Amino acid sequence: MRCRLVAGNWKMHGSLAANQALLAALKARLRQVEGVSYAVCVPFPYLNQVSAALTGTPVAWGAQTLSEHDAGAYTGEVSGAMLREFGCRYVIVGHSERRSLFGETDQQVAAKFMAAQRCGLVPILCVGETLEQRERGDTQEVVGRQFETVLNAAGIAGFVSAALAYEPVWAIGTGKTATPAQVQEVHAFLRALAAKRDQGIAQELSVLYGGSVKPGNAKELFAMADVDGGLIGGASLVADDFVAICEAASR
Ligand code: PGA
Repeated sequence: MRCRLVAGNWKMHGSLAANQALLAALKARLRQVEGVSYAVCVPFPYLNQVSAALTGTPVAWGAQTLSEHDAGAYTGEVSGAMLREFGCRYVIVGHSERRSLFGETDQQVAAKFMAAQRCGLVPILCVGETLEQRERGDTQEVVGRQFETVLNAAGIAGFVSAALAYEPVWAIGTGKTATPAQVQEVHAFLRALAAKRDQGIAQELSVLYGGSVKPGNAKELFAMADVDGGLIGGASLVADDFVAICEAASR
């Protein structure tokens, strides 16, 4: 059976003091559940704090982006090898905020995905359409192109150790969640794209949903056949909410 994953995306939030309280709550309350993984993806400066707090717990950690380069004169960038040194298991690539605010292209996202895998990190590849694209009927074309650029570069074998996250841009941080049926439709489409290349790998691929997941809607979203967990922004900063969402992911 495919693994479920609930990953928090802290974005550019946190402080040493606030993180300490949040991490202590996760450590105290999250229990290992067969087939379900948990993670927090945090700002780079907090990786040391997070690794100290979460080592030996069921909660893994990761970063929110990485450089597509392995090393060199790239001022301000952070490599996958550096993330591994801090015990990261995951790294988010291609989040819509990186694409829209920092100009990351599909090709660059593919290069980051492969850079992550060169270092043994598990990339969580984000895809998603804007409201305008959805209203034009272009959802499948947009998410299909985003996914296939990475499939073409990394091959389907690259998805043996990776997760895919469908995050409609219009649902991120807006309190407007896609309906379970809308989510299922896109997830099934994405899995079918993977299945054209390899049935077995497609069946095992964890496809997460992200966009205003809250304790009140997590269960119904996670109940859909092709939804294997979530990528959680705002609610991952509130211990009670994140714990409740993680619990909703256990079957
Ligand atoms: P949200 O963010 O849960 O705050 O909508 C999700 C994300 O951006 O990953």
